[in-house]
Amino acid sequence: MTDATYPTLSYPMRRTCPFEPPPGYAELRERPTISKVRLPTGALAWAVTRYRDVRAMLADPRFSSDMRHPGFPVLYEHQVPAPEFSTSLIGMDAPEHTIARRAVAGEFTVQRLRRLRPRVQEIVEEHVERILEGPRPVDLVRAFADPVPLMVICELIGVPYADRDFFLKISSTVMNAPSPEEGGRAMVELTDYLDALVGDKERDPTDDVIGRLAARPGEPGVPGHKDLVGMAFMLLMAGHETPANIIALGTLLLLEHPDQLAALRADPARTPAAVEELLRYFTIAEIATSRVATEDVELGGAVIRAGEGALALITGANRDPDQFARPDEFDIGRGNHHHVAFGFGGHQCLGQHLARLELQIAFDTLFARIPGLRLAEPVEALRFKDEAINYGVFELPVTW
Ligand code: HEM
Repeated sequence: MTDATYPTLSYPMRRTCPFEPPPGYAELRERPTISKVRLPTGALAWAVTRYRDVRAMLADPRFSSDMRHPGFPVLYEHQVPAPEFSTSLIGMDAPEHTIARRAVAGEFTVQRLRRLRPRVQEIVEEHVERILEGPRPVDLVRAFADPVPLMVICELIGVPYADRDFFLKISSTVMNAPSPEEGGRAMVELTDYLDALVGDKERDPTDDVIGRLAARPGEPGVPGHKDLVGMAFMLLMAGHETPANIIALGTLLLLEHPDQLAALRADPARTPAAVEELLRYFTIAEIATSRVATEDVELGGAVIRAGEGALALITGANRDPDQFARPDEFDIGRGNHHHVAFGFGGHQCLGQHLARLELQIAFDTLFARIPGLRLAEPVEALRFKDEAINYGVFELPVTW
């Protein structure tokens, strides 16, 4: 096989349709073996797009999540966290990762989150109420998709929601590919803020996720001060941004498929399946599943050498026809929910049950309370987050 047969594609790739993955993913998936793509840094990394290869890679302990490893496939040099930042769970490897994850996992189980359901419902209702009382059209991102998950994660981890404008500004700067200087400054600002907040909780523990961890210093896996700040940072960012993007994109997609929306409204018992299908269809958080090989690994018909970077392109895997029949069709009746939108293996999303809870309540309530909800602008006029860390839509003007 020569380079002339299979050209080296660049990554990230642009979507040509807001609802479809970049066409290069299918091209890569159809090649007989995995191949390398060129990153903006100029480095090469393996692109893994087939469902079975992605799952094999993400379950394999020979791949490391350590972004500071010289071979890690960072997209931009400034993404490598400065030594003073703690990368928390997402950048750790076993066995430290396993111990650290165990220390916090109990906070995010299905059983634990069940208790949160009434409060999430209340938060969603309040925001829908405010939309109904306000002017039309309204930007659903600002009025609903952003504030609902932000309020939920703030209350859960014990961060004052009163400072929401500050968090929203920081997360938008960190996530939406700003200049390296701006991104770095935003990270320092939020770290300083959380450093003080965690300090307060250590002195006077509060009844929330960070407060409860701060009350258990020295226990196995319980993060020390710096790592607790890193964990608060990650939970706040990951816990808000991703559900916010999928709430906005999911609303858009359902409005664009009125027959499926009608089926959902007629039978809300279908919502959990619809949420899984939305997660599969968009797969908004893909950069998180990048790794570096620590040993030679045979995968997808090639050998990834120790020290080489590899990208598990879960967006491609979730459209793999070998795993999903009619993969490019959005179908809330699809029975197969074994998608990898939350990743796979040891780092699989810690907040997935929380995300599901929020998304199910958000869609059920929004469409039940605002039956006439519709787009106020054509899809062609919307701006999508094509260059951001997580995919999404910047504004979603709706009316009813
Ligand atoms: C629809 C919403 C969400 C999507 C699509 C999503 C996606 C992902 C993905 C793909 C990973 C895997 C990273 C890897 O393999 O290294 C991940 C990890 C993680 N997510 Fe989420 N996520 C979502 C919501 C949330 C929420 C609400 C929280 C808040 C608690 C959260 C917290 C985390 C954490 C802490 C990790 C790191 C886990 C680890 O490294 O052990 N996520 N997420």
